[in-house]
Amino acid sequence: MQILTAVEDGILRLQINRPEKKNALTVAMYADMAAALTQAEHDPAVRVVLIHGHPEVFSSGNDLQDFVSTPPIGEDQPVFQFLLAISTAAKPIIAAVTGPAIGIGTTMLLHCDLVYAAESARFQLPFVNLALVPEAASSLLLPAQIGYRRAAELLMLGEPFSAAKAMEYGLITEMTAEGDAALIAAKTAAKKLASKPPAALRLTKMLMKKNGADDIAKQMSEEAAHFVQQLRSPEAAEAFKAFYEKRAPDYSRFS
Ligand code: COA
Repeated sequence: MQILTAVEDGILRLQINRPEKKNALTVAMYADMAAALTQAEHDPAVRVVLIHGHPEVFSSGNDLQDFVSTPPIGEDQPVFQFLLAISTAAKPIIAAVTGPAIGIGTTMLLHCDLVYAAESARFQLPFVNLALVPEAASSLLLPAQIGYRRAAELLMLGEPFSAAKAMEYGLITEMTAEGDAALIAAKTAAKKLASKPPAALRLTKMLMKKNGADDIAKQMSEEAAHFVQQLRSPEAAEAFKAFYEKRAPDYSRFS
């Protein structure tokens, strides 16, 4: 099982479990995560969702092979179902990040309410480097949350950045010590939320998020259209070929 789920003490724990491929997310994994989040919304036994990966990796983002073999064309695709579920969840979502969180591994965090990351966690939004465009409404949420200048740095340069920078930019709740400290901090917060009055908690989240909801949905659709178009571009073909040939891509012939 590449997505493990367990409900305990009101907490749905969702673990990304494909460490041999650095927790790269496949179509099947998005489908499982979307289903788990949707089920959590309807299950009164679940008060809060906790997402985490493995100690050495949170997620290396979308499976690059899948991008080529099963590109996400159409909004009924599992990746969009997952993004819809995480971006519209009424119940609180907490993430614990250890190791790399790349691409959607970082953008999904923008839809979480609390994020705990180990000091050595590394984030990256390498969409442009792969000849792609941002997703998960990150092209809207990042400038809004951290300011245009910082968003441009992260989305245009697309370089890895540290937990300290993520903390400075307000992208994570807390930077923790190494080991299982991030997961422990996330579990502690999850337990606290699970014991709070659930309706008040859901209403509080709704009130904070409702004003941006339509814009987020609209931006995700627009991003998806450009994303699919770019995926089919010669630029992207070069980017993916280079990744698997373990060399730097060469975009010099493109205009
Ligand atoms: N999709 C598919 N396979 C991936 C992957 C991804 N996103 N990320 C890693 N893998 C695979 C590698 O191909 C490799 O497979 P192999 O053992 O069959 O050769 C395995 O996972 C281990 O990855 P490797 O690159 O050797 O590990 P590393 O520790 O040197 O680096 C990362 C880890 C995450 C920094 C690096 O794998 C990476 O940059 N991955 C791509 C991230 C990315 O661009 N994601 C897309 C975002 S839109």
